[in-house]
Amino acid sequence: MKLIIGFLASTLIAGASYAKTCDVAVDATDAMSYNTKVIATAGCSEIKLTLKHAGKLPKAAMGHNLVIAAEADMKNIIAAATKSGFAKDYSPGTEHVIAATKMVGGGESDTFTMSTSKLKKGTKYKFFCTFPGHSSIMVGDVSL
Ligand code: CO
Repeated sequence: MKLIIGFLASTLIAGASYAKTCDVAVDATDAMSYNTKVIATAGCSEIKLTLKHAGKLPKAAMGHNLVIAAEADMKNIIAAATKSGFAKDYSPGTEHVIAATKMVGGGESDTFTMSTSKLKKGTKYKFFCTFPGHSSIMVGDVSL
């Protein structure tokens, strides 16, 4: 019994010292851009990311979301989002998507929490917007 309690206690302590939620704030603009090119995850067990559309244009004209995926999956995810259409907010779906906010218009924001254990060393990850045409500019690196 002592052994079990000791094990539980050390697990809890180890968990507490490792678990770190990092708050990440990204702004998107009416000029079809994010305000950052890199989302850093080093030292974080999870990131709590908030995307804020700091502009004024409505979602139909200048919608933005923020999707995290492996660089190799980006093209297929954008194709699926474009196919889903505006009525479905150019949703990236779930296949190969690691995390995603909803599509927002001016003045709106959305938040997700993602475990960094989903990111594997040796794989390149990107964040991008799946509104048609946006990902050529609205794209950046997720660093491990
Ligand atoms: Co966009």
